[in-house]
Amino acid sequence: MLRIEGLKSGYGKSEVLHGVSMSINAGQVVTIIGANGAGKSTLVNTLSKLLPIMSGRIEFDGRDITALSASDVVDLGIIQVPEGRKLFGPLTVDENLTLGSYRVRHAPKAELTDRRKFVLDLFPRLAERATQRAATLSGGEQQMVALGRALMAGPRLLLLDELTLGLAPIVIDEMFETLERLKREGLTMLLVEQRADAALALADHAYVMATGDVVAEGPAPDLRNDERVRKAYLGESDITSD
Ligand SMILES: Nc1ncnc2c1ncn2[C@@H]1O[C@H](COP(=O)(O)OP(=O)(O)OP(=O)(O)O)[C@@H](O)[C@H]1O
Ligand SMILES: [Mg+2]
Repeated sequence: MLRIEGLKSGYGKSEVLHGVSMSINAGQVVTIIGANGAGKSTLVNTLSKLLPIMSGRIEFDGRDITALSASDVVDLGIIQVPEGRKLFGPLTVDENLTLGSYRVRHAPKAELTDRRKFVLDLFPRLAERATQRAATLSGGEQQMVALGRALMAGPRLLLLDELTLGLAPIVIDEMFETLERLKREGLTMLLVEQRADAALALADHAYVMATGDVVAEGPAPDLRNDERVRKAYLGESDITSD
């Protein structure tokens, strides 16, 4: 579905990604793990076209999308849940969800209704809070709105960068259960997570990044059992505790 080849990008003249290649098949969950500053967010933001590409190529469904704009990429169904949620605080939960459906605004009404039903079934708490202003929600609830809003857009590829950052452990577990369910529904996802252990448990395939390069890749269970990955990114306690 997505193919990245030799992707270079960065900030101004400073190159952060030095030629990253990876691919994601339809229905797969792919995770990127790597230390702070490895370039994970830079990659996700480059895919969303929030950062300019210096060289390399991105293909989506066999089509070269390297030169497309951020909004064109959204139109194709590559939807990012932005870091830090970026909700419209003064608007209600319901209004925030509606904004998410902008991409599919011309779709039949029934489809939008179904989509909203799906999101509210996924997050019953959002149904209870439908008319509450987003700014007054807890951090976990805000993250539910952010994910729900992305789902309203009918994503074909969902990009998740640190979805669980700063959330309480129990809320993180709930989020991972939700992602598990989305995976069962067949949603294709690219997942960047501080909780590398949980991300590897969920993912089909994984890439390890270090200083702007892919340094390892493979089926997620293999990387999860890889001695070096465990030492560098997981720690034995994470492995043995679940
Ligand atoms: N806005 C920016 N301007 C200049 N350099 C930046 C900017 N954002 C990130 N960088 C640099 O790019 C490199 C990769 O950062 P990036 O945020 O992609 O890492 P990351 O893997 O997402 O890290 P983390 O796990 O901490 O989120 C770092 O060296 C960082 O200092
Ligand atoms: Mg990051």
